[in-house]
Amino acid sequence: MHSFLKSGKLGEAGSSNSPTSGSAKKRLKKLQWVEKYRPKTVEDVVEQKDVVAVLKECISGADLPNMLFYGPPGTGKTSTILAAAHQLFGDLYKDRILELNASDERGIQVIRDKIKTFSQLTVCSARADGNPCPALKIIILDEADAMTQAAQAALRRTMEKETKTTRFCLLCNYVSRIIEPLTSRCTKFRFKPLNQSFILERLQAICKQEKVLVAENILNVLVQESGGDMRRAITALQSCANLQGKNSHITLENVYEVLTVVPEKWVANFLDLCRKRTDIKQIIQFINELEQQAYPTHKIFEQLNVLLIESDTISEPLKAEIGEYLAESSFRSTCSRADFTHLLDFAVHTQEILTVDPEARKWEQQENAKCTIIQGLV
Ligand SMILES: Nc1ncnc2c1ncn2[C@@H]1O[C@H](COP(=O)(O)OP(=O)(O)O)[C@@H](O)[C@H]1O
Ligand SMILES: [Mg+2]
Repeated sequence: MHSFLKSGKLGEAGSSNSPTSGSAKKRLKKLQWVEKYRPKTVEDVVEQKDVVAVLKECISGADLPNMLFYGPPGTGKTSTILAAAHQLFGDLYKDRILELNASDERGIQVIRDKIKTFSQLTVCSARADGNPCPALKIIILDEADAMTQAAQAALRRTMEKETKTTRFCLLCNYVSRIIEPLTSRCTKFRFKPLNQSFILERLQAICKQEKVLVAENILNVLVQESGGDMRRAITALQSCANLQGKNSHITLENVYEVLTVVPEKWVANFLDLCRKRTDIKQIIQFINELEQQAYPTHKIFEQLNVLLIESDTISEPLKAEIGEYLAESSFRSTCSRADFTHLLDFAVHTQEILTVDPEARKWEQQENAKCTIIQGLV
């Protein structure tokens, strides 16, 4: 990581695959930045200390276990295993690695055929350059949580049978979707969302390398919005850079545009309307105007939530009550496309919570509950 931050180039220190030829440079230029700046060595992987320590041991000769990497997207799961495989196998990489991801057919038949055939190939314990390497192959199953239960069960037997020659590395977001017999056969590593300071450092290094001009406070917004997902941050940076073209500064508007952030004024105005006894016609007009901006409804709810939590003027019990309704509204908005209705419903409900006397509301709620019981009895 430090070599990368100093030189601005990933994997330079001692990396055998740092591209130098003219055609390699051209290819690099066209690459998406997430690919171009993928860590080339496990030392380049930031934050995930446990897995890096284990993999370093394996690279220096210790036995490689079957592994399961789990955690949110963009935290380095794929990059880590790819970097380790490159370091372990060098030029033999292609012969020793089988990479399958969710877009490939991975039903039970594929487990039987592809994986079995690959794991039964024999391999030697030296590389073309004479350096030793483990007499092993690695099967990387990206997005393993998308595999059917039956396919996972089939994998369990293969994993056990081929243990002399093959190691498995399962990557997934949700470990709970992997069957227990598989998780118990793997060493598990949890990938945490990345610390904002690491993401900021890396974006700054990329900006330097790509000659992108951007103020630090704007980069900070980008980092915050990425929510610990480095892929999201790097992709957004590249999109902003593409929007602006060479040698011009990235603006806050670019970042908002790319990340579909709802400008602060809309969200603040929304909450302000709910704080007062605003006329319903005015609320409807506001929501109509907001709808015309075509911001995703879930994003509006997400930002309202942040504003609500940060508010100094709304009491904690009321925040909790509004928050609960906000969660329901946000969930409902993902299930149906009646965005206007969901926003209006939330606004009216929040207005009631914030403007009607709590005692009166309590009384009304009790009365409503009584009516429901009576209706049930009739
Ligand atoms: N821990 C990390 N250290 C360095 N770069 C990272 C890290 N996590 C993610 N990245 C960057 O984000 C991109 C996506 O990472 P990836 O390994 O594909 O994430 P995942 O597989 O966890 O979804 C990579 O190209 C890499 O540049
Ligand atoms: Mg991945």
